[in-house]
Amino acid sequence: MKTNASPESFFEVSADLAVIARFEDQAPSATETAVDERLQGALGKTLERIRFKGKPRQVASLDTLGQLPFETIIVIGLGKKDAVGPAGLRDAGAIAVKEALTRHYASITVDGLLLTADETGQLVLGCRLGSYTFDEFQAAPEDGPKPTITTVNVTGSSLTDVTLARMEAIADGVCLSRKLINEPANVCTPERLAALAVEISKAPGFTVDIWDRQQIIDKGFGGLTAVSQGAAVEPRFIHMSYTPVNGTSEPAIALVGKGITFDAGGLCIKPAKGMADMYIDMGGSAAVMGAMQTVAKTQPARAVHGIVGACENMTGADAYRPSDILTMYSGKTVEVLNTDAEGRLVLADAIAYAREFNPECIIDLATLTGACMVGLGPNYAGLFTDHEDLSDRLLGAAKRAEECLWRLPLDKKLGESIKSKRADITNLGGPYGGAITAAQFLQNFSGDTPWAHIDIAGPTMASKDDGYIKAGGTGFAVMTLVEFIGD
Ligand code: BES
Ligand code: ZN
Ligand code: ZN
Repeated sequence: MKTNASPESFFEVSADLAVIARFEDQAPSATETAVDERLQGALGKTLERIRFKGKPRQVASLDTLGQLPFETIIVIGLGKKDAVGPAGLRDAGAIAVKEALTRHYASITVDGLLLTADETGQLVLGCRLGSYTFDEFQAAPEDGPKPTITTVNVTGSSLTDVTLARMEAIADGVCLSRKLINEPANVCTPERLAALAVEISKAPGFTVDIWDRQQIIDKGFGGLTAVSQGAAVEPRFIHMSYTPVNGTSEPAIALVGKGITFDAGGLCIKPAKGMADMYIDMGGSAAVMGAMQTVAKTQPARAVHGIVGACENMTGADAYRPSDILTMYSGKTVEVLNTDAEGRLVLADAIAYAREFNPECIIDLATLTGACMVGLGPNYAGLFTDHEDLSDRLLGAAKRAEECLWRLPLDKKLGESIKSKRADITNLGGPYGGAITAAQFLQNFSGDTPWAHIDIAGPTMASKDDGYIKAGGTGFAVMTLVEFIGD
């Protein structure tokens, strides 16, 4: 899909579908009025008939019967002007794409007259995210290939090429993340993640280090070693490092992702029902890879590390056991009480490793606990940090990106439930607050580095299409991370 900020006026660009936005409490744009005039009032009549109010996601459509340089014109409601945010605009873009695709159209013109450059940017981002599909493992439909959108032109907007390029880069990051989540475990292996890291790291300012199983053992990554040892599939520890080419005086941001490419639960095996979804257990690493992909393209002023511990959690003859005591990369020992609480073991090593680079902060992302989904529902990610400033910045970034993030407490009393009689700590808390005790386990490895943990077990996967969000992997957190990193 090509996106352009077009210098021509709305009526000068021919396209299959034309899109006009309307706020609920505002008069129609001059473009809409002009369209209505050219169609002798037919648009106004249509809007009246369907009682179009400009409510969020409300759509009116009209065929132009050759009277305008578009086959069809649609008006999309954005809701009240002071209530519309980035997500609503992305939804509008996705709706436009859906309207075009159902008509087998290929090109779209968007009237940007009522919108700011940033708002138009979000709408274009929504076009990209709304046209994402995961169908590479499916045969083409019998009646020919599926329709695709080739061009989105924006007219009448102050949208610049810089903003457009940034939106493209963000769309690429989110779509990469979605793709990795959607790929099954026999395709998206740790080796695949590592190969992709090498690919991303060809961009200016990047270096990449990758360790294989023997090197992971030799490095002393006790958590990753243990979790991966029941799997025939090779583990990888991945470290992408980006330093802005023109130098930065600020310390880096370290992003750490859980990359369990399949979580069978290990010897504490999951029931069949819960297991089949566990190809998404690398959602944290998908967020990190997606964000790094965007970083590679936007070349921000901040240095960023992208660190991923990747392996499968299986039941092979060499599998780690409940009761094993692991010596972690940090030197701390962990008594394994449940092999299905594997993510925290892999992350613990990656967090301890990240500290060596003296980052300004460490943010880890993980599909860590079912408990977080139980507590917050499927749409919200849980944020855990004892660092107020980091919390404010992350919640601010999530708000600007309009991704759902909710802070949960690191309750010290509850944290005592991961004390161990046989080692420093155990990998299993009590029956309550499982998302909290999982976070507190990780906190043990963050030392004095400002650290935040984001449990994305819920929002990594969507059960159905919903605006710019598509059923399956969502690419959740990429946009928040990109906002957090800044320009
Ligand atoms: N990968 C799962 C968590 C998960 C569950 C992610 C559902 C996405 C959807 C994690 O490794 C796990 O199995 N956690 C256990 C922890 C328990 C054994 C302490 C859980 O949540 O039940
Ligand atoms: Zn697990
Ligand atoms: Zn897991």
